[in-house]
Amino acid sequence: MNQHPHIDPEDHPELEHTDFDRLTAKGVSRRSFLLGSAGAMGLFLAANPLTQAVAAVTRPMSSPLLGFKAVPASTADTFVVPEGYVAKPLIAWGDPILKGAPAFDESGTQNANAQAGQFGDNTDGMSFFPLTEDRALLAVNNEYTNYEYLFAHQGKQALNADEVQKSQAAHGVSIFEIRRNAQGEWQVASASDHNRRITAYTPMELTGPAAGHSLMRTAHDPEGKYPLGTFNNCANGQTPWGTYLTCEENFHKYFAAPEDAPDVELPARDKRYGLKSGNRDFQWYRHDERFDLSKHPNEPHRFGWVVEIDPMDPTSTPKKRTALGRFKHENAALTIDPSGHVVVYLGDDERGEHLYKFVSKGLYNADDQKANRDLLEDGTLYVARFSAKDGETKGLGEWIELTHGKNGLTAENGFADQAEVLIFAREAATRVEATTMDRPEWVAVHPNNKAVFCTLTNNKNRGQDGQPVGGPNPRAKNNYGQIVRWWPHEGSHVDNRFSWDLFAVAGNPTTAKGLYAGSDNINAENMFNSPDGLGFDDAGRLWIQTDGKYSNAGEYAGMGNNQMLCADPESGEIRRFATGPVACEITGLAFSPDQRTVFIGVQHPGEDLAPSHFPAGGTSKPRSTIMMVQRKDGGIIGS
Ligand code: FEO
Ligand code: CA
Ligand code: CA
Ligand code: CA
Repeated sequence: MNQHPHIDPEDHPELEHTDFDRLTAKGVSRRSFLLGSAGAMGLFLAANPLTQAVAAVTRPMSSPLLGFKAVPASTADTFVVPEGYVAKPLIAWGDPILKGAPAFDESGTQNANAQAGQFGDNTDGMSFFPLTEDRALLAVNNEYTNYEYLFAHQGKQALNADEVQKSQAAHGVSIFEIRRNAQGEWQVASASDHNRRITAYTPMELTGPAAGHSLMRTAHDPEGKYPLGTFNNCANGQTPWGTYLTCEENFHKYFAAPEDAPDVELPARDKRYGLKSGNRDFQWYRHDERFDLSKHPNEPHRFGWVVEIDPMDPTSTPKKRTALGRFKHENAALTIDPSGHVVVYLGDDERGEHLYKFVSKGLYNADDQKANRDLLEDGTLYVARFSAKDGETKGLGEWIELTHGKNGLTAENGFADQAEVLIFAREAATRVEATTMDRPEWVAVHPNNKAVFCTLTNNKNRGQDGQPVGGPNPRAKNNYGQIVRWWPHEGSHVDNRFSWDLFAVAGNPTTAKGLYAGSDNINAENMFNSPDGLGFDDAGRLWIQTDGKYSNAGEYAGMGNNQMLCADPESGEIRRFATGPVACEITGLAFSPDQRTVFIGVQHPGEDLAPSHFPAGGTSKPRSTIMMVQRKDGGIIGS
């Protein structure tokens, strides 16, 4: 294996910079952070007066950034916002967005053509693109779809060809215009010429080092440059030159071998992505041969990328940016480094996978946005390695370059060229001894451009499978998750050194003590599990969305349904802002430029046939929905 010495803080006094010390002191204090040994996992009864007293004493001071009254945990089938706020559905799965598309019909019998003109399912990451003061485009990911609601037969039958195409059309991206009315509310303009559906069969172009590589060529695309479609689009990014980034996550679930074909023996580097013959739940292989693993083993290499879309031109061809690496992408947190390089932070959401950074070769030109259009085509990918003294949840880190010919990424070690390094980025990260992480989800860069945050959602496998307990992943069997924060050395995102700590460690202070009670900024009133969505508003409030267990029982007692919280990065205070309906995930957020509207995604209410009728109520079918949230007094959200 490649031998990079791990950074020892005592050898690098220059890295102990003041920002680090100042912010660390106010962030996570260590509530018995004696590390994730089994001894720290003991459960306490909820009624234990000692743990309740601890929770009360350690509640953080009130923050000047957070101006709303916290909402309690909820198990109700509704979307709750603080006093003085209103939340209304903006759009739900199946609402028409293209001209001539039919209205939603909850029978589950509408065909593929209808779905292809409607808002896709499972709303996820989204970005707001202003057109004028009162008109804008929303670009929204439709991550996947729930067959129990998509089809009248609930997915219990073999899909026919139209049903496969309907499923493919429920995936992808929806781009639609919204307009602000006289009351200040945003509404969908369902017949706007801007509106567009991008699905699992929209023509795309591969760009960058892996485009055209032999591993990308298929029977349908012998050049290896023109894949069809994008799917399992999880979270997102937005560039200052006006494009949308959509990130392909769990692409492996869509490729399978037919039941009557022999199992496909895939190379280990393909299996690392979860590809296997038996992933038949989505059934696309039945009527779209591209997804038949026994016939087209290269097709999966064309997914797992970040895709750049020009939302302003509905005829533009989306571009898959292979320079950013192939893995199960969560979001793409883009910032402009003081040097002018574009830097994109990227999480790979799988237990024990990694955190990445892309640095563009070219420089951003604020005076010529057209010149920036292909900055993501060429650059350098890095992967993070964290270090810490034993027992500490802060330390130093470095970014290791994933460039062919360097750091052991050579032909003799199995990487023929840079394309192979990128297509099998996970294997390259292992080769350079990157830190295995507790499922990196969203990354968010503070508006001061000096600190970066990433949700590590949970990891039941921590402590086994070669995933050592320690550093930013301090708990074995981590069911709650944490938020790691790092400061690029001297504010430079292109520098390969950083310092880090844990901003929050989720836990349950009413049922556990020690590490599993969470950090000191977690208390009985704000507790949650599995932080996932993450984003800053212009004032530097950190918004946290959850995709966790909603049983509200056992170790999750008191946490209720999935939710959205707001944190002050300076004081560390975290306050619950919203709660979602039954069996949903809260994911996706976009602020209007005036910060007086926030759009929040409610994904898969009622999944697995849980009893939800959100948003329409009554006996209606539950539908993934984007909520529009405003203050009754028109004020700034969160203040
Ligand atoms: Fe689509 Fe990692 O969440
Ligand atoms: Ca997510
Ligand atoms: Ca998640
Ligand atoms: Ca989800």
